Amino acid sequence: MAEVVRFGVIGAGGMGSGHCGMLGTIPEAELTAVADIDAGVRTAISAKYSVPAFENATELLESGLVDAVIIATPHYDHPPIAVQAFSQGLHVMSEKPLGVTVSGADSMISAAKEAAKEYGSKFGVMYQMRAEGPNLAAKSVIESGVLGDIRRTNLVMGWYRSQAYYNSGGWRATWAGEGGGVLINQSPHALDLFTWLGGLPVKITGTTRTVLHDIEVEDEAFAVLEYANGAHGYLYTTTNQSPQQQGLEICGDKGKLTLDYSGLKVVLNETSVSEFTRNNTEMWASPETQPYPVEIPQEGEIKSHAAITQNFARAILFGEPLIAPGEEGLNAVELINGIILSSKTGESVSTPVDRAAYDALIEELKASSKRKTNVVENRVTDPKFA
Ligand SMILES: NC(=O)c1ccc[n+]([C@@H]2O[C@H](COP(=O)([O-])OP(=O)(O)OC[C@H]3O[C@@H](n4cnc5c(N)ncnc54)[C@H](O)[C@@H]3O)[C@@H](O)[C@H]2O)c1
Repeated sequence: MAEVVRFGVIGAGGMGSGHCGMLGTIPEAELTAVADIDAGVRTAISAKYSVPAFENATELLESGLVDAVIIATPHYDHPPIAVQAFSQGLHVMSEKPLGVTVSGADSMISAAKEAAKEYGSKFGVMYQMRAEGPNLAAKSVIESGVLGDIRRTNLVMGWYRSQAYYNSGGWRATWAGEGGGVLINQSPHALDLFTWLGGLPVKITGTTRTVLHDIEVEDEAFAVLEYANGAHGYLYTTTNQSPQQQGLEICGDKGKLTLDYSGLKVVLNETSVSEFTRNNTEMWASPETQPYPVEIPQEGEIKSHAAITQNFARAILFGEPLIAPGEEGLNAVELINGIILSSKTGESVSTPVDRAAYDALIEELKASSKRKTNVVENRVTDPKFA
């Protein structure tokens, strides 16, 4: 294969147009085609990047112009487009989340496995936080085992989104168009990081609610989590909070890791909690603690989304291991579906989430979905990613 991967971007709206621009900064990648069902969007992008534009994914996939696609359509379309692309022997990078449902994500994973065997296709998911230095360092800390047996996890995602943001697309924040609210749209990155570091809980008891926005899906969710080893976790997410924050903690027998906007902090116990509790005889004693120095890997010139796409291109060209393999995107969908299913049924949910139960629930929610009357179409890349 040539030293450059020819990419098509499917869905060239806010995020997809960002990908179109970013591809030009990656030496191993080249934008060769776009597809968007919106004529205005595809004409503008085609003119800006001087590439052919197709009016649907199928035409782009069959064009022979691309080796790989980035799927940046609304979430419901990620699985069918990915499955079709894999059947053509292409490489697929899906935007987050993999899909709205675990069954949709499963379909991508099994198509990817078949295509890997038959054509050598690669499957990636756009979890760009995995490429950030502090997060990579946190992964090394977890893998080193210095925290000991994990006892507690905690994830707080307190963000803000305006009503104008929700009004900017007809698909946004509807059961029929998006398949959920803050859980499916804003939370996947942090949920991916949380499960990448702390693993997938075996039991989820969750609540979702709509507190502040005029939307039919949740703008707030919280959950209690149980892990296979008996550890517990707590999770909160919202688009109603300012000042905004995002942070997670993973607390083990031997120490604690904190990862938030200020970076990574690891503190270790000189004696593990379990050993200290067994052997100490002093009434008010507790384990001495020490900061644990962690080296943060330096990020290259190409960062964030572009770093994930560059790694994906290098995986195709040179077999470089993927930073964000597509199949690992399933865990975030398990958590999202688990919390929504638990809230709607009032019961705790075990993972893997019952595929048939969630499919039935989402069909019911889609059927209840109302056409939005307050849409002011606006496809603008988040300035942080532009
Ligand atoms: N990784 C990130 O940081 C990040 C950030 C924002 C959005 N996203 C993801 O990107 C996806 C798109 O979000 P957005 O904010 O860009 O939405 P958007 O509405 O701005 O853009 C979506 C585009 O897809 C087009 N489209 C819809 N269905 C299509 C189809 N079947 N085939 C071709 N084109 C189609 C629409 O016309 C639109 O131009 C979502 O899945 C979202 O979660 C990821």
